[in-house]
Amino acid sequence: MTHRALVTGATSGIGLAFAQELGKRGYDLVIVARTTDRLESVAADIRDRSGVEVDVVTADLSTDQGMQVASNALTDTTRPVDLLVNNAGASLAGWFGTTDIADEDRQLDLLVRAPMHLMDAAIKTMAGRGGGQIINVASVAAFTPRGVYSAHKAWLVNLSRWADVHYDDVNISVQALCPGFVRTEFHQRGEMDVSGVPRWMWLKADKVVTASLADLARDKAVSVPSARYKVLAALARHLPAPFVTRMAKRGR
Ligand SMILES: NC(=O)c1ccc[n+]([C@@H]2O[C@H](COP(=O)([O-])OP(=O)(O)OC[C@H]3O[C@@H](n4cnc5c(N)ncnc54)[C@H](OP(=O)(O)O)[C@@H]3O)[C@@H](O)[C@H]2O)c1
Repeated sequence: MTHRALVTGATSGIGLAFAQELGKRGYDLVIVARTTDRLESVAADIRDRSGVEVDVVTADLSTDQGMQVASNALTDTTRPVDLLVNNAGASLAGWFGTTDIADEDRQLDLLVRAPMHLMDAAIKTMAGRGGGQIINVASVAAFTPRGVYSAHKAWLVNLSRWADVHYDDVNISVQALCPGFVRTEFHQRGEMDVSGVPRWMWLKADKVVTASLADLARDKAVSVPSARYKVLAALARHLPAPFVTRMAKRGR
């Protein structure tokens, strides 16, 4: 039986790696992002390499209209989606309190409202079809208080953990994927200076994806790729909260 996956933010980084790996595994794909020419070129490459069907959906997921267009692809019963990867994301340059509040609203829409809308569409459709899988790309930043971005990712981890248990009886698995630093376009787009991040802290997008899919097969609700980040995430979750908050501040 052919499976279909919808991947948001599939033109670069982790989303691109998901689309390529799922294509290799025989999934037909729906890929979503804002940049149509990049989507078309990713689609052509995956069709050539893997021989699967790839549909392209251009949508800005920080807008209501974009969320609706992507949700429509999830509720289309003629092209059912078995796996949703809520991955599209970005970061603002600057800490909350110094940024433009209109930009913060767009971040909230992209990182919280968009995955919420897409999960809603996916759960309602999958529950009526006998099940499905959802991967929400969060971050290890979810485990340490570090401004609005980490708060949005903590929201996503919390909702994913609940949904994985709550929808177990209708055969829907939900995973929060929590990577550390991954080499993608993310930091450059967000004008972040990551020159001080040691080499050992960098992960490769394809390795993050294979770890996530292996954890999904084991129905793990929270996936933290690599042993080093498993240790760091465990420390962040179990050390006293005031200490973790102070350490996170020192990291700026
Ligand atoms: N890189 C890291 O270190 C890291 C670590 C932990 C978690 N993450 C998370 O991983 C996810 C993917 O990030 P990445 O590192 O792969 O970044 P990336 O290389 O910058 O890719 C971001 C993707 O999201 C799409 N996107 C951005 N804004 C969008 C919007 N408004 N509407 C629709 N699509 C949008 C981009 O495509 P278009 O520009 O074509 O729209 C692109 O395909 C994000 O959720 C991020 O928070 C990243």
